[in-house]
Amino acid sequence: MNSAKLRLGVNIDHIATVRNARGGMHPDPVSGAWAAIKSGADGITAHLREDRRHITDDDMERLQMLCESENIPLNMEMAATEEMLEIAKRLKPHAVCLVPERREERTTEGGLDVAGQHNTLVPIIRELSDNGSRVSLFIEADENQIRAAKSTNAAVIEIHTGAYAHALDDEKNDLAASILSSMTEGAALGDKLGLEIHAGHGITFDNVREIAAIPQVVELNIGHFLIGEAIFHGMDSVIKEMRACMDEVRGNSG
Ligand code: PXP
Repeated sequence: MNSAKLRLGVNIDHIATVRNARGGMHPDPVSGAWAAIKSGADGITAHLREDRRHITDDDMERLQMLCESENIPLNMEMAATEEMLEIAKRLKPHAVCLVPERREERTTEGGLDVAGQHNTLVPIIRELSDNGSRVSLFIEADENQIRAAKSTNAAVIEIHTGAYAHALDDEKNDLAASILSSMTEGAALGDKLGLEIHAGHGITFDNVREIAAIPQVVELNIGHFLIGEAIFHGMDSVIKEMRACMDEVRGNSG
């Protein structure tokens, strides 16, 4: 059993999705973030998308105020664009996770092509880091991308776990096993290169243990499943259950 404590970052985007279905203020993702913090979340994550389909600029500002006052890290997910860079520089969140973004996608499909966009990403990562945010790159567990991430001077990589989750959902167990082994090797390589390793996307009670068992992973970011389950069972119950699944394989010391 690995004794390092694994942090749970709760992504509250989809509380805003429900709010925006009707307009108005309810349910408020910032109240959701507060509930998640009270229930044991180690961090809050929110994705300010270019099309503002869920989280808005005002949400981000209120989330930053809440996280600052509660002394909890805010992880802002964003595309590497000039507009988002200016917002992040003003907001100064604890962390910025750079993600690929396409307007037509339903969610963040696939990782960032750090190798292909190296020269565009480097100055953005430098500006964000100089401004006090820890920069994380959301990538597939691919050796080329991991080495490219290291060469950008980003502090963190977040390994995209979506393909693993989908393979399990589709009962493609051989594929799932091969993706899990790539993620395990990728986490070890990233750690050896001095990167901090996070993981996220599509994580549920059913698949979290295998991901949490990768020893170099120090943070999981989980959104859609937790918010969906919270509708039935409440935020407190689902966060505690997720925490328990994580602690089952990692212990809760550290
Ligand atoms: N990590 C990153 C970088 C993401 O873009 C997302 C989705 O916004 C998540 C984690 C959370 O994924 P899910 O909502 O499937 O738990």
